Amino acid sequence: MSVHSNVKKVTTHVLQEMKNAGEKITMLTGYDYTMARIIDTAGIDVILVGDSASNVMAGHETTLPITLDQMIYHASSVVRGVDRALVVVDMPFGSYQGNSKEALSSAIRIMKESGGHAVKLEGGQEILESISRILTAGIPVMGHLGLTPQSIYKFGTYVVRAREEDEAKRLIEDAKALEAAGCFAIVLEKIPTELAAKVAKEVSVPIIGIGAGGGVDGQVLVVHDMLGINNEFSPRFLRKYHNLFQEMLGSFHRYIEDVRSGDFPNEEESY
Ligand code: KIV
Repeated sequence: MSVHSNVKKVTTHVLQEMKNAGEKITMLTGYDYTMARIIDTAGIDVILVGDSASNVMAGHETTLPITLDQMIYHASSVVRGVDRALVVVDMPFGSYQGNSKEALSSAIRIMKESGGHAVKLEGGQEILESISRILTAGIPVMGHLGLTPQSIYKFGTYVVRAREEDEAKRLIEDAKALEAAGCFAIVLEKIPTELAAKVAKEVSVPIIGIGAGGGVDGQVLVVHDMLGINNEFSPRFLRKYHNLFQEMLGSFHRYIEDVRSGDFPNEEESY
């Protein structure tokens, strides 16, 4: 068992200590109070209020449509369910790119209105000015490199990133730039295992992977995917711990049958 699994509150400093001690960091997404309560009770280190809420909660094809107000709504619901985990909130598309003043005011709104503990932004050197400005306000920033879903229309597909030498070199430079700017951790999404392990070795802050192999400092998955609630998404990197889609379907079928047949409610379930 990891030494830090007993800490009462996970902070960015705890995550750094975990990396230094070689203890793996656990992270899952969360979008609502009830799920956050269960994930936090299980002892997760970090809950990411991901902009993947745009897909799994709102049914959009991409993460682009979700708004700052909607992210704040999800984040404040998660914060109310959490005692221990660090809550990191994704800054949505359009709330930070290209204008560092707007980036700072978006981050301040997230912290003030949701009670989250940190923000996450997608991108490398091109968003350094926004990251630096947010950090000046004392807001911890998590970076996100590799497959960055807010840029899906630039990439064109969700295939593995940085297989080519040029892109791999750029990714390492970006990771070092994020570390130098003061990011407390970096997510690496869907890149080759060897490259991710190299970044985790060369960069001193925690590297959290999704589809980035086991050589990094921690792992993150989308909670609906790992529970198998979403049965339309089965990438190679995903481990499904349940098939809740089928389980829930069975319960809904039984309920419909019970109501239709008059079996529910029975006497014991009535006043
Ligand atoms: O929005 C999200 O769920 C994410 C994770 C995939 C890292 O950014």
